Amino acid sequence: MRQPLVAGNWKMNGSRDLVRQMVEAIGPTAEQAQDVEVLICPPFVYLGDAQSQLQGTRVQLGAQNVSQEPKGAHTGEIAAGMLLECGCEYVIVGHSERRAMYHESDERVAEKFAAALDAGLKPILCVGETLEERNAGTTEPVVRRQLEAVLERSGAGAFGTAVIAYEPVWAIGTGHTATPEQAQGVHAFIRQLMGERDQAIADGVRILYGGSVNGENAAELFSQPDVDGGLVGGASLKPDDFRKIIQGAAR
Ligand code: PGA
Repeated sequence: MRQPLVAGNWKMNGSRDLVRQMVEAIGPTAEQAQDVEVLICPPFVYLGDAQSQLQGTRVQLGAQNVSQEPKGAHTGEIAAGMLLECGCEYVIVGHSERRAMYHESDERVAEKFAAALDAGLKPILCVGETLEERNAGTTEPVVRRQLEAVLERSGAGAFGTAVIAYEPVWAIGTGHTATPEQAQGVHAFIRQLMGERDQAIADGVRILYGGSVNGENAAELFSQPDVDGGLVGGASLKPDDFRKIIQGAAR
């Protein structure tokens, strides 16, 4: 039985005030939804505030990016060990915005994934196709390529703790949510790919859906057999919406 995970990706949004509001709003919701794992990923600079305010709640903390290097002369970068020290349990790697705007290649994403894992963090690996790729019928090869870069480096066993997030690029921040059937189709494909390497890992790995998840559509998306929760952007900045999404993942 896979425990659903609902993760909020704040991107470059929020404030100290939002950290406070969000913890107040979702702390009790997470307490009620005992079977759901709840996670917020605020910007790096708010991790310290979030760490102290989340004490005593069931809400966990994650970061949005990590350096592939463990330390040293890398001005502006943040190492996995630092995230761990600031209370992070998870880190998002390979988000499509990082791939597209910051030129992170499959190989770089695989390095970051390995660095996170080595430090004891649980990576959330984002994969997903653009609209052009979907229209060209190449969704599956694209997702396979993105996943295999990480599997080659870290092996299927890494997904004993790591999480996969299927985020079709055309659905991110657009309001064009994938239909539950579209999401389920790709999730089942990803699980099958994992199964080619290790069936027990494939059965246990959590695959989140991301892309315009909101309080209204979450429950139906999460009811699909291979959808184990969500990676939520815009709606994770709205306390009421995010609470509904958490409730939508409760069984
Ligand atoms: P969105 O973003 O929910 O705003 O579409 C999801 C994501 O990018 O993780």
